Amino acid sequence: MFKELCTARYSCRNYTDRPIEEEKLRYIMECVRLAPSAVNRQPWRFIVIKDQPRLDLIYNAYAREWIRNAPVIVVCLADRQNAWVRPSDGKNHADIDLAIAIEHLVLAAAEQGLGSCWVCNFDAPLFSQTFPLPEGYEPIALVPLGYAADQPSEKHRKNMADIMAE
Ligand SMILES: Cc1cc2nc3c(=O)[nH]c(=O)nc-3n(C[C@H](O)[C@H](O)[C@H](O)COP(=O)(O)O)c2cc1C
Repeated sequence: MFKELCTARYSCRNYTDRPIEEEKLRYIMECVRLAPSAVNRQPWRFIVIKDQPRLDLIYNAYAREWIRNAPVIVVCLADRQNAWVRPSDGKNHADIDLAIAIEHLVLAAAEQGLGSCWVCNFDAPLFSQTFPLPEGYEPIALVPLGYAADQPSEKHRKNMADIMAE
C-alpha cells in the first residue's frame, strides 16, 4: 500500500555502519530515473557519494554530527539552464522537477528498508565552491542514506480539514 510507504518514510538522523547493497542503490536510482519532469527535460544529476574525502566535504557544508555516520549521501543537482520555463510568467521548474525526483529517492529507499533524510539547510555557496560539481549544476539537496539506527517518531501533520477544500 502506498500509504504505508508514505508512513514508513521519515527523516532518519542516525545510521548504522552497515553498508548499502549495490543492487539496492541501483534500484533506488532507477526509481529516481523514472520520475516525471516538466516537458520531460529531466534537468538533474545525482552524485552517489561513498568515499570519505567527499563525505567530509559535505560535512563541511552541513556540520551536523549525525550526517557523519551515513554510509552514502546522494548530492542532488539541478541543471537550471535546461529546465522548462513557463512562458506565461517565466517560472523555472527545476526545483519542482528535483523535488519530485528526490521524493522518489526517499520513498524508494524506505521501500528497500533504508533510512534517508532530505537536507536543504546546507551552506550552498560553500558547497558549490568546495565540492567538485559538473559545470552548470546547482546543488538542491543532500540525501543521506543508510540503515536506520533510530526509530521514527510520531508524524505531526496538519488535519485534512486544514489542507483540503471542496
Ligand atoms: C525540502 C526539505 C528540506 C529539508 N531540509 C532538512 C535539513 O536541512 N535538515 C534536516 O535535518 N531535515 C530537513 N528536512 C526534513 C524535515 O524536517 C522533515 O521532513 C519534517 O520535519 C517532517 O518529518 P518526517 O520527514 O520525519 O516525516 C527537510 C525536508 C524537506 C522536505
